[in-house]
Amino acid sequence: MYALMTQLELVLLLLLLAFGWTAGGRAFRLVYSGSGKLLRRKASGLWICLLLVTALALALLADIAWMVRAYDPVYWQDRLFLHAPLILLPAGAVWIFAAPVLLRLRRAAGDAGEASPQPEARRLAVSPRLIVPFQLTALGALAALYFTFMPPVAQRLAEVAIPLCLLPLASAALWMRHARRARKLGAAAEPPVYRRWRQTLLHLSVVAVIAAAAGSGLTLAAESSRLPAAMSMMAGTADYGGGSAEASGHDHSGAHAPVHGAGTVSVTELTGPSEGEPDRRFELIAQRTTVRLGSGRTVEAWTYNGAAPGPELRMKRGELIEVTLTNRDIEDGVTIHWHGLDVPNAEDGVAGATQNAVMPGDRHIYRFRAEQVGTFWYHSHQNSREAVQKGLFGPLIVEPEDSPAFAPAADITVLTHRWNGRLAIGLNDGLERRTIPAGTAVRLRLIHTDDWIRQPYRLTGAPFRVAAIDGAELHEPDELRDARLVLTTGGRYDITFVMPEEGPVLLSAGDQGKVGLLLSPGDAAAAPVPDIPPPAADFDPLGYGSPAPTPFGPASRFDREFTMVLDNRLGFYNGRFEQLYTINGAVFPDTPMFMVREGDLVKTTIVNRGAVDHPMHLHGHHVLVLSRNGVPASGSPWWSDTLDVTPGDTYEVAFRADNPGIWMDHCHNLTHAAIGMTMHLAYEGVVTPFTIGGPAANHPE
Ligand code: C2O
Ligand code: CU
Repeated sequence: MYALMTQLELVLLLLLLAFGWTAGGRAFRLVYSGSGKLLRRKASGLWICLLLVTALALALLADIAWMVRAYDPVYWQDRLFLHAPLILLPAGAVWIFAAPVLLRLRRAAGDAGEASPQPEARRLAVSPRLIVPFQLTALGALAALYFTFMPPVAQRLAEVAIPLCLLPLASAALWMRHARRARKLGAAAEPPVYRRWRQTLLHLSVVAVIAAAAGSGLTLAAESSRLPAAMSMMAGTADYGGGSAEASGHDHSGAHAPVHGAGTVSVTELTGPSEGEPDRRFELIAQRTTVRLGSGRTVEAWTYNGAAPGPELRMKRGELIEVTLTNRDIEDGVTIHWHGLDVPNAEDGVAGATQNAVMPGDRHIYRFRAEQVGTFWYHSHQNSREAVQKGLFGPLIVEPEDSPAFAPAADITVLTHRWNGRLAIGLNDGLERRTIPAGTAVRLRLIHTDDWIRQPYRLTGAPFRVAAIDGAELHEPDELRDARLVLTTGGRYDITFVMPEEGPVLLSAGDQGKVGLLLSPGDAAAAPVPDIPPPAADFDPLGYGSPAPTPFGPASRFDREFTMVLDNRLGFYNGRFEQLYTINGAVFPDTPMFMVREGDLVKTTIVNRGAVDHPMHLHGHHVLVLSRNGVPASGSPWWSDTLDVTPGDTYEVAFRADNPGIWMDHCHNLTHAAIGMTMHLAYEGVVTPFTIGGPAANHPE
């Protein structure tokens, strides 16, 4: 609804600009009417404009009032205190100043008939009181539009102050111009003639002056947005979330050496176990490969081990894992980030923060203990937007230590991605059929890796449960039927069901059943494709399952409280004009850096004021969802590592700062991250020797 109301505001503002502009032009040309009759008719036309402009202004105010009623101030304070006056004041001026003149004008023009208008009518028609208010409605709408695309933020007061100062100046200039014109035309003996070319020339020169001023401003902005050749990840402004900046008497006895206080710790020291024979070894070789989709289409992919997606890494909880990454021929360099698995910081695989990108011919060894059970994935975190889109990713599954070997037929990873725009599960861009005996307990591990697409899934043919979200098991999940599941980029759902006697069961990626898995207890090849009924509802984790104890909750005392306001803004990033996606009004490296100390209990409020959804992903930690839009989470504890924050949503989440390091916290729509929608969670005292850019050419996004 929020997105709808903001879009409505945008449309109404554009209409107001258009009608205000037209009305201003009509008012300006009144005096050139050749006859009293014509003047009268045009004045009547202007009444219609006046009513239209008023209606638009009122609709805008209603839209804003609706937001004020339904949402927190963060969503509407700029609208109420900035947009509303910019709309209301000119609309009021039209009624106070222009409308009376218009009334008198109609009367004065009425007697003339076919003859040219009376001098009194002409005098009224050029009155600035009549013309300028109409022009101001357009100017006000323009200013409100500007503030829609450049929402005001405290750090950049000039962006509000300058246009706000320009407005009265522009109004005064308009007034003076029309007053002069009124003196000239009002005194002239002859009815004035409209000289179109003169007007056009005048308009063009005004436009040229404005364009020149704007152009130089834009060039300046473009230049100042250029990123330095090398910079530290820790360039942001520190935000201590209400905690003190200095190490106080906190006594946190964690497993790690305390990292605060006098000394500093380098991320390179925050490794997994460096000693010990690993329980499992994996070799991943990054290489370019041509892969073939199920339909036969080929894709030039970037792969691990020549496979896209990369090989499934399966392990058991508690095992020591060693992964050797070798880069064969990915010139941009590669890393591996274990998305959702909360490994020690040095193993996190972020180029420029925890390591240097691995260049062709080089290798890097990751060692960590798999501490969480669940469904995860791995991907390169060097140039990740392009790397993930091209295929440098794969599934990672951690099984419980005591689990019997899963029957592979019943434990199925369903990884959805778009290859050159074609949706596929793995590489299968059609329907895959499998036979599964009736009575088998099936777990489907949905992983969605595709950028900036909220991927819907439908399961038809059996009741099912969402057993886990982002790798974390849910407590007593309810049975669902015909629910629609929507996964955000980077998110995971595990769904479980028992294969019914009567098949088949269809898992459809998308709503149409064209891409999916057809599971049948009998001969899968012969099974008919079931129809997908209309969805009962979209699955919502907020009240799903039943509550269970959590280590902290909404009533806990938090050591740090942070706010992340997500929004859009037009601007430059590294010299290019973009629709920017901002965190607290800024893009990296100007985004804040949330500072914590080991042991802190942290609460973050995430607000999406913008127009598109942002799956927010914090590395190294899982957050517990406390509430959404003021409604407390009431179902199973909902732990997330990739939280889909849609427009108009306010989430409160909490986590324990128990994994020292410097952690990326970014939007997993990697196209957003690539233009600055990233920031960091940093533990006090932790430093990194790595840089973004520089000789190592690290570009995490
Ligand atoms: Cu899956 Cu920082 O990423
Ligand atoms: Cu985003």
